[in-house]
Amino acid sequence: MSDRKQRKLEHIQHALTSGQDRTNGFEDITFIHQSLPNQSLANIQLDTKIGELILSSPIFINAMTGGGGKKTLEINEALAKVAKETNIAMAIGSQMAAIKDKSAIASYEIVRKVNPKGIIFANIGSEATLDEAKLAIEMIEADALQIHINVVQELIMPEGDRDFTGVLARIEEVAKNVNIPIIVKEVGFGMNREVAKQLKEVGINIVDIGGRGGTDFAKIENLRRERMLESFNEWGIPTASSIAEVKTSSANMTIMATGGIQSALEVAKAISLGASAAGVAGYFLKILIENDGDYLVEEIKEMKKQLSIIMTALGTSTIKQLQQSPILISGKTHHWLTERNIN
Ligand code: FNR
Repeated sequence: MSDRKQRKLEHIQHALTSGQDRTNGFEDITFIHQSLPNQSLANIQLDTKIGELILSSPIFINAMTGGGGKKTLEINEALAKVAKETNIAMAIGSQMAAIKDKSAIASYEIVRKVNPKGIIFANIGSEATLDEAKLAIEMIEADALQIHINVVQELIMPEGDRDFTGVLARIEEVAKNVNIPIIVKEVGFGMNREVAKQLKEVGINIVDIGGRGGTDFAKIENLRRERMLESFNEWGIPTASSIAEVKTSSANMTIMATGGIQSALEVAKAISLGASAAGVAGYFLKILIENDGDYLVEEIKEMKKQLSIIMTALGTSTIKQLQQSPILISGKTHHWLTERNIN
């Protein structure tokens, strides 16, 4: 087995056992109860816009696995079936393995075979060239491309990258030369508003803020090291604070929120802070592996139903209205936003 495949399998194992840290800041967000919502459950519309794409629901399956091989194929196939059955968008795990080794392509192409009409995001690392980005898009006829940035994870990985120069220029080159929406994505350490502004300046209009408080790649990579690199154990911007940061960076940056989301209430809170969609990775993977695809389908249907119920209680019928729903912010998130002059 290649080192890349072995590493990705270890990621899945650690993500399932000890990877979630669960202080994503949503515990500090409270909706203001409405006694007279003047709303009917029958009116609720969950569709949302990500660039020019319309998603039928803000909940999406975020990028997982990668590495190629049999396990990747099985997980990708199972997740694609779930996405199709629940009619939600799905991001595929990093396609770098298939770009470097053509024998791995089949384990990615499967998602399009299973779900020919679904909304599927391609995924590459920020080290990818424009040609590699184009290959990833073609491989699965992607509707959008995620470019992930994972500086901390790379630094902890003994075999990881050490040179992070030129990333913004490469992102710009890809953004200017591909004709589908680009999503720049953090993977668990959160994005700040200055980075969002830099991205906006090079033509990026959609970010996945990938906040702290969910799957923790510092912890996961540390479990694979002989000597722990402990400096990053408390590192990163919690999901709730990161959404608010990026929201204030620019009026027209579309925000996708990921990082420890496990319930309809957390999806609703992410949206109330300014997100247009909410991604779930580790929690869905755990359900899939510990149960099966049918069980995950039921969980996603239930999350959608509960989101509609929450929206009814708040008197909001669309995702746009939910974004305006009044909230109270307390605790560490309040402290963070005050220190950063965000209100
Ligand atoms: C990931 N994630 C990820 N992200 C990415 O952009 N490319 C990838 O290949 C992977 N691979 C991957 C494997 C596994 C096993 C997990 C659990 C996660 C990161 C993922 O998309 C997401 O950003 C984080 O996991 C945070 O979300 P959750 O897990 O807290 O919902």
